[in-house]
Amino acid sequence: MDRTAWPYRNALLMAPMAGVSDAAYRIIARSHGAALAYSEMVSVAGLHYGSDKTWDLLVPNDAEPDLAVQLFGADPSQFREATAAVARRLGNRLALIDINMACPVPKVTKGGAGAALLDEPTIAAEIVRACRAGLDDAGSDVAVTAKIRRGRRTDEEVAPFFAQALEQAGASAIAIHGRYASQLYRGEADWGCVRRVTEAVGVPVIGSGDVFSHDDALRMLEETGCATVMVARGTYGNPWVFSGHEPTTKERIDAFARHVRLLDQTGAHMARARSLAGWYFKGMPGAASLRGEAVRCSNANEFLSLAERALVIARAGSDVQPEECE
Ligand SMILES: Cc1cc2nc3c(=O)[nH]c(=O)nc-3n(C[C@H](O)[C@H](O)[C@H](O)COP(=O)(O)O)c2cc1C
Repeated sequence: MDRTAWPYRNALLMAPMAGVSDAAYRIIARSHGAALAYSEMVSVAGLHYGSDKTWDLLVPNDAEPDLAVQLFGADPSQFREATAAVARRLGNRLALIDINMACPVPKVTKGGAGAALLDEPTIAAEIVRACRAGLDDAGSDVAVTAKIRRGRRTDEEVAPFFAQALEQAGASAIAIHGRYASQLYRGEADWGCVRRVTEAVGVPVIGSGDVFSHDDALRMLEETGCATVMVARGTYGNPWVFSGHEPTTKERIDAFARHVRLLDQTGAHMARARSLAGWYFKGMPGAASLRGEAVRCSNANEFLSLAERALVIARAGSDVQPEECE
């Protein structure tokens, strides 16, 4: 692929996060400047068996311009079938197909998927080719990318060589999270690994790991030479990570309320707003008691009342000016 053709150069992307990056989350991220957002990872076997619940994870909401769909699995023929089906169903709202070769969860790796593929470069390359073939079957020319980790076991870095194998198989970009699968989320992400992958391949590299602020993202671009940065946990209660804006307390409470309404409108399970409350209210006056109350909320109105209460507490504190609250 022509590196200059990658449309996300120097951009920040909303990373795939199972149980988090649903339509509401993605709409919020994009409205704050994420150049692209990924679906939660979706099982190719689940699509093969045609469950509606699985499809719900990857059909974009009308408010989303497009969507990067992340698939996981171990069987190249299921990837081909799934990719063709996704391309047909999403049409020009499919931005790219990403293959998960990074997930360290045993439930995923024991079937040979996710980070288990880091031990199987031949199968991994076959999966990239199968996705390309599936897109061809559906007449789609979107990119096939893969998301990898540093390696499967501590001190056994395979990422640079593994990324080369994927590039040769036709991957248009590689996302690299600079931790070993064995680390889960412990320790620090090694940005040196992001640099080594960038130096090993000609296709654009998407850096991932420990980007918790807009400045971190700019530093990752600068220090690693990666083309694009992907943010996951740094978006928790902080969609401004994409723009670099420093939100006021009022803006944070308003964003929480908007997020709650979006969850409601998109038919999401409202329990998701409980963790959102913890994230958006973090460090605000009364945060601990608000978090405690959030656990007892179960519908949108209850969460919206909680947002109003957060505003009252903040007004009583010192950092929200009365005019901010109108
Ligand atoms: C709750 C959670 C769910 C995740 N789910 C996925 C996933 O479905 N697919 C994937 O490739 N990575 C997943 N990740 C990994 C992130 O995309 C990202 O690579 C990793 O968290 C490191 O980036 P960060 O330091 O910005 O969080 C997940 C991470 C978290 C915390």
